[in-house]
Amino acid sequence: MQTLAQVLSTQQLSASLTQVIHTLANSAKDISQAVRHGALAGVLGATEQENVQGETQKKLDIITNDMLKQALAIDSQVKALASEEEDEIVVLNSDGSYLVCFDPLDGSSNIDINSLVGTIFSVLPAPEGKADQQSFLQPGRDQVAAGYVLYGPSTMLALTTGQGVQLFTLDPNSQEFLLTNPAMSISPDTSEFAINMSNQRFWEAPMQSYISDLLLGTLGPRARNFNMRWIAAMVGDVHRVLCRGGIFTYPSDHKDPNKPFKLRLMYEANPMALLVEQAGGVASTGYEAILDIAPEHIHQRVAVILGSANEVNACLEYHGQHYDDQEPEC
Ligand code: AHG
Ligand code: MN
Ligand code: MN
Repeated sequence: MQTLAQVLSTQQLSASLTQVIHTLANSAKDISQAVRHGALAGVLGATEQENVQGETQKKLDIITNDMLKQALAIDSQVKALASEEEDEIVVLNSDGSYLVCFDPLDGSSNIDINSLVGTIFSVLPAPEGKADQQSFLQPGRDQVAAGYVLYGPSTMLALTTGQGVQLFTLDPNSQEFLLTNPAMSISPDTSEFAINMSNQRFWEAPMQSYISDLLLGTLGPRARNFNMRWIAAMVGDVHRVLCRGGIFTYPSDHKDPNKPFKLRLMYEANPMALLVEQAGGVASTGYEAILDIAPEHIHQRVAVILGSANEVNACLEYHGQHYDDQEPEC
């Protein structure tokens, strides 16, 4: 089996980007160890701190954030970082060629029940000059690499550098990421959806109609039964979609008028959207491709609908739009 280093060498990336990917992968190995020690290492439970988004930080949110921050700080190619757990960007190495955005621990509510969590990351080219927040506000299409690490029964790394999606499994003996799927591909059709149904009454009309029709199954316009899954960690739900197809959505809702969206663009939606598109799927807000959004803030939130192309397009029909990213623009 090919190692991560061997795969990256066949992709003919710059030495600098290869270095940053290795830094992220090596840091994920350390996070995997911390997560696996769990209660034995006293890393479970909450802190008394809140992040910039008003969410109580778990101990592991802070520990994993610090691990990634320290690793990226000593990588000369990383100019600055933006993290879910940092209010502001962190400027690192002035000669660095890249900016890194990350969610150090996705699925925080799963930590204390020993369930699925992961790390999501996005790498952008660093503009010339001193890095500031504005430097990060690039559309997702500009990402030069994106991926996630899933700390499940095995630790897996899904990675794209714009050459498809490769899936690696961490060998617990050698501590190498080994290639276990060279080309992840999302089936265009599916009968599985993922949504937090408890928000149903707060959704907008198009999503209400779409999900109602899925629930009608053989008795409704879709004329077949659908199954539902919800891991409560985007990283786990998107991994399932990449493995066996499906549609995952966290739509806009009016449960809290000050927070119409849940997922964050720069370190959740964008990296996952690039992975999904690279695996042949579609990723949209309902009204535009996620990767085309011009970001306004590093902690901006967006609606997310992603997964199997035909099913996402079916959902977009309810929103009055249809994307076919295979067709060239004219
Ligand atoms: P995080 O743990 O990084 O804050 O992200 C959690 C996100 C996402 O991973 C997941 O899909 C969603 O929140 C779950 O939300 P609900 O608790 O509303 O189901
Ligand atoms: Mn998250
Ligand atoms: Mn998180």
